[in-house]
Amino acid sequence: MQRCDALARHSELPEGLTRVFLSPEGRAAGEAVLGWMREAGMQAALDAMGNAVGRYEGARAGLPCLMLGSHLDTVRDAGRYDGMLGVISAIECVDALNRQQKKLPFAIEVIGFGDEEGVRFGTTLLGSRAIAGTLAPEVLATKDAAGTSIAQALIQFGLNPEHLSKVKRKKSEVLAYAELHIEQGPVLEAEGLPVGVVTAINGFSRLRVTLRGEAGHAGTVPMALRRDALAAAAQCVLAVEAIARRHPELVGTVGRIEAKPGAINVIPGEAQFTVDLRAPEDPVRQQALADVKNEIVGIARERGMEAKIESLQDFGSSACAPWLMRQLERAVEARGVRVRRLPSGAGHDGMAIKAIADIAMLFVRCKGGVSHNPAESITEEDAAVGAAVLFDFIHEFKPVSA
Ligand code: GLV
Ligand code: MN
Ligand code: MN
Repeated sequence: MQRCDALARHSELPEGLTRVFLSPEGRAAGEAVLGWMREAGMQAALDAMGNAVGRYEGARAGLPCLMLGSHLDTVRDAGRYDGMLGVISAIECVDALNRQQKKLPFAIEVIGFGDEEGVRFGTTLLGSRAIAGTLAPEVLATKDAAGTSIAQALIQFGLNPEHLSKVKRKKSEVLAYAELHIEQGPVLEAEGLPVGVVTAINGFSRLRVTLRGEAGHAGTVPMALRRDALAAAAQCVLAVEAIARRHPELVGTVGRIEAKPGAINVIPGEAQFTVDLRAPEDPVRQQALADVKNEIVGIARERGMEAKIESLQDFGSSACAPWLMRQLERAVEARGVRVRRLPSGAGHDGMAIKAIADIAMLFVRCKGGVSHNPAESITEEDAAVGAAVLFDFIHEFKPVSA
């Protein structure tokens, strides 16, 4: 908990917590984490994508690893546990092994992923996709709001974008991936449970939509003759909401909207907004995505404006591996906690790591299910149960082939 507090001080804003990918505060947090990894007996360094990577060798050097971790970047005005708790808990587990001078029949790697939230570049899971080898080099041309590309940001950070391929891990090097994370939902609290075992991570689709109308004088252009891009965007926002309400498990969000030129007395000539759609079942999400695109095109046509719809990301639902869930459940039961299985509505690095290894996740109860909010809160007792379960899981871990 103290380490979560310490990391929360590395923030872009003096008040609150904002820490985006490849930022000075991201570096400070990464360095702090590397220091804790070394204290816990790990070899630790940043990789070429800015992930903080620590390795604790097994009974002999060079064995395949059990990969653990979570992310170190945050959303804007974030809480202090989303991501960080998983990294710190994993380091604590290694520290406990190291203090007992215990070597396991596999290595352990702990990764503090550099970008899971995707706040800076609008495209997410950059760190974990690099490790999984699924990050296409073209993605490095993606720019942030200031016009800096990922490749340029890596160079400014002292990293070499040409070394991206060195970050990639082979399937044979990773036995499994396990992540501890706060639940970010209300289920565990409602059932009085400190931890739960994740069954699958819901898929998501993300769009960036640009509507182009015509800027004009707010006082002189009659309503019937306007092509107001922001009014059209507002209609699109309500369409996203209406489509998402059609299915009980579907959620849809417009989390960002911008109008240009952005003055009180100017009709907005351009509006840009994002769409985030999620569902446990891929066909439900895909249908909603098609419906949203159709609605946007229709609204733009009716209002005589141009619509550009860019697909930012699509991730299918990611199931956790039953063999890993069983091992995690044994660790939960060993702590006297009833096993509760639940899906994850939020995205996680495991979605990307799944390309090279089977994944599992342990959720820790959070207060009121609140996250992506400075009010995010967990208890010390729950954090301790989570870390203890993770420790037992690691200690008893048997690779699928065993
Ligand atoms: C990450 O937290 C996401 O699900 O957007
Ligand atoms: Mn998050
Ligand atoms: Mn997270």
